[in-house]
This record gives sequence, structure tokens and C-alpha cells, in this order.
Amino acid sequence: MDETGGSRRRRSPWRQVVAGVSVAALFVVTVSVAAFVYFWVTAPVNTAGQVEFTRALQIPELAESTVEADGTRRFALEMQTGTADLGRGPATQTWGVNGDYLGPTLRADRGEPVRVDVTNELGEVSTLHWHGMHVPAAMDGGPHQMVEPGETWSPHWTVDQPAATLWYHPHLHGSTAEHVYRGIAGMFYIDDPNGPVLPDRYGIDDIPVIVQDKKFDGDQLSLADQMLSSIGILGDEILVNGTPGPYLDVSTERVRLRVLNASNARAYDFGFDTGLTFTLIASDGGLLPEPVELDSLQLSPGERAEIVVEVPPGTSTVLRSTPPDLGADFWNSRFGGGVDTMDVLELRSAAALENNPEIPRRLTELDDLGEPTVTRSFKLSSNAINGRAMDMTRIDAAVEVDTTELWEVRNTDGQPHNFHVHDVQFRVLDTDDPALSGAKDTVYVRPGETVRLLMRFEDYTDPAVPYMFHCHVLRHEDQGMMGQFVVVGPGERPAVIDHDAHAGHR
Ligand code: C2O
Ligand code: CU
Ligand code: CU
Repeated sequence: MDETGGSRRRRSPWRQVVAGVSVAALFVVTVSVAAFVYFWVTAPVNTAGQVEFTRALQIPELAESTVEADGTRRFALEMQTGTADLGRGPATQTWGVNGDYLGPTLRADRGEPVRVDVTNELGEVSTLHWHGMHVPAAMDGGPHQMVEPGETWSPHWTVDQPAATLWYHPHLHGSTAEHVYRGIAGMFYIDDPNGPVLPDRYGIDDIPVIVQDKKFDGDQLSLADQMLSSIGILGDEILVNGTPGPYLDVSTERVRLRVLNASNARAYDFGFDTGLTFTLIASDGGLLPEPVELDSLQLSPGERAEIVVEVPPGTSTVLRSTPPDLGADFWNSRFGGGVDTMDVLELRSAAALENNPEIPRRLTELDDLGEPTVTRSFKLSSNAINGRAMDMTRIDAAVEVDTTELWEVRNTDGQPHNFHVHDVQFRVLDTDDPALSGAKDTVYVRPGETVRLLMRFEDYTDPAVPYMFHCHVLRHEDQGMMGQFVVVGPGERPAVIDHDAHAGHR
């Protein structure tokens, strides 16, 4: 008895442990399932028909400039902290350029020498990069051109590329997502006085449309990552040029919208709720050879498109993003913004519209990039490219100037990625998508697919200062899905980047 009782007593704590573990396991499973169901159900965002368009779309100011004796057009930009009303009252803490949120639009003519004095009053180190611009590497504003707090960095170059809608944003390695999200970004237009006649009256029939998704925590911007996803910050509200619930009064027969996806992670598939079609005239690097009539257009982070819309007089229509085709699996699509519908901007047309230029049937002739002499391949997966995470001291590729290369970029994980290359505008091969028929600097790369990009490297060489290539999903970029290339002269070797010297330079 004693033995049995003793043995029973000995077994009893075991049972308690087993029972306890089972209860705990059941609890964990229940909570996980509940959390999963909660995130599954709450992940989709659908604001169709629910946004009240009560605020006139803010138009970023045109940046002031002066022209120096030698013809250089000179701008001054100050990155600063501030507060702005993004729809949650006036106290939302933001960052901006020459203002509280976002920055002014810079404009320069093709052929014009420019200089920008970039002053950093953010209280922490940052950089400012000219996305899409053909510039010397040392002027590019990438992770190596750090601007210390209180300092001014003054890059200068001669604008030499076709008319295009470019943009600027910080590029500090590891912090690009945060700096852009807080509000440092703006447009940089390149004008070509010899180009075709198009609607071009800034703020009247030529409108910057900077689209960003935001998430709020009370009246402050939330920097929390999307749950169950690696994509980073995904917002459930849209701002256009920093305006929540924006409408635009249209006074002309045609309105040209220069749409920039300046969101950290979200891809959009733009169209109009009334089924209105529109004309795509330009992509990242400038005008398409011919205009293309579309009813929807997908843009991943960093991409731009210029579209011309004819809103019938006395009517209104809503620019709406319907679920973008990310090509990702169910999971990554659902938690990566692939099932979301979001209202963006209402266009309200006056009863009588002013006549303005029609779109010509031929817009431009694209440069012949020649035949590639070098082919490189890049695999995007797990926060790395070709298995290597970004290293500021490692040069991943040395390109010889005045050569054409073919870059084959493959997305080998299930995540949505895109690919952006500094310094050049490339051509996307093997596609009949008219939206990819022009010069591009950023392209979406579907899971499991390969894009082939033809690019030509010209003018600037620097064996010691690299340009970047990376996924423009900013969290992926920050986490290491980025690499560095230098453009060198014939027979020249890339220099060794000395990290200590580099750090000392900081
Ligand atoms: Cu828009 Cu490397 O950046
Ligand atoms: Cu760039
Ligand atoms: Cu990515």
C-alpha cells in the first residue's frame, strides 16, 4: 500500500506537470490561432467609398533657385523636424524639407548645371539621394554621402538626361525607411524645352501626386511593422502630398498627374472608380515613345508614372487603388497589401473646362543602348542579394564606363520585391507591358520571376565611390537587400573602401 501509495504520490506531480503543460500548450495554441484569425481578418484594408474628400490637395511649392554667374542653378534645401496636420490634428510630429512635411519640387532644364545646398537640421545624420538622376557617384546622396547634423552638403552636377519626374529622399543605410516615412521626400522635375507640347502649368494642369500610406497611433505616426509580414510599415490611410482626404479642382480639359509611389512598402494598382480610362505618357525615366490608353496601372515603391486624365465637365471621379497583383502566395499577398483597396484622390471637374494641349501620338525617341557585353545575375532573397547582405565596404560589381550590360534579376523568395539601380535608366526586356515600354529605374520583380534589364553606363567614373542597387521596399533595403557597384575607366580597378577612413569622415 505504502509502495503503491508512494508510487501514486510519485506519479502525481508528473501528471500535474503533464496537465500543466497541456493547459499551457492549449493556451498558446488558442492565443496563436486567435491572433492569427485576428490578423487574418484585420489585414485587408478597404477604404473604397469611405474616404471623405474634404481637403484641397496641397501642391508642394516650387523650390526657389538662383542662377550664378557661371549659369549654375542653385537650390537650398533644409531637412528639418516639425509638426503637421495629417488628419489627426496639428500636433503630429513630422520631418520635412524647407517645411514640416515633404519638400518643395525642384525643376531644372536638361543641360543645366545645378547645385543643391542640403543642410541637415534633423538632429541626426541623414543623406539626400536624387532618385533616377544620372549623377557622379559622389553627388548621388547614397549611404556614403552622409550629412552630419548641422552640416551642409553641396552636390553639383549638370543635368543631362531626358525630361522626367524624379524624386529625392534620404538613403542612410539602415534608416531609409524611417527617414522617408517621417516625411523627407520631394519631387525633382527635369524639363526639356525641346520636348513635345503637353499640359505643363504647375499646379493647374500639371499636378504632382505623391502617394503615401500611413498608420497612426493616436495623433502620431506609427512606425510599427505590418504583422505577419517582412514588408515593414504598411499604412491604412492615404496621404497625397501630405493631404488626407484630398480633392483636386480640375479646370482644364486634360489634367496631367505625375504620380509618385513614395510609400515604404505598399504597391498600388491605380484606376478610377467611374471606370474612366487615362493616358500613360511617361514612366520613371521620362516620356514613352507613344502614349498608352489604360484603365489601371500598377506602381511599386519608388516608381513614377505621368498620366493624363480627361474628367468630363461637371463630374467627379476618384483615383482608387484596387488590389495589386503582387504575384506572391496567399500569405504574402494578404499581409503585404495585396488584397487592399484604397481611395486616393478625388478629381472634381468644373462645369466648363479650359482647353489645353492634346497629347501627341508620338512623344519621344528612346536612345539606342547598344548590345550588352556583360551579363550579371542578381538573386533577391532573405534580405540579401546573391546571398550577401549589404556591406558598405564591399564592392559587388565594377562596371566599365561606356559599356552596355544586361542585368538579370530574379526574386527567389516568396516576398514582394522590386529592383532599383542608381545612375542609369534601364530598359525592361521581354515584356509587352506598355507601361514598361520606356526608360525605367525601378521595376517590380514577382516571386519566382526574372526581369532582364538593359542599361548603359556613361560619363562618370569613380573607383572609390559606389552607386547602389536594391529592393525599394525600404525595410528590405535597410535590412540588407542592397549592393554596391562602381563605374570605372577602361582597365581601372575598384578602390578598396577603407571603413575606418569612411567612419572618420563621418
Ligand atoms: Cu529611391 Cu536607392 O533609392
Ligand atoms: Cu535611387
Ligand atoms: Cu524587397
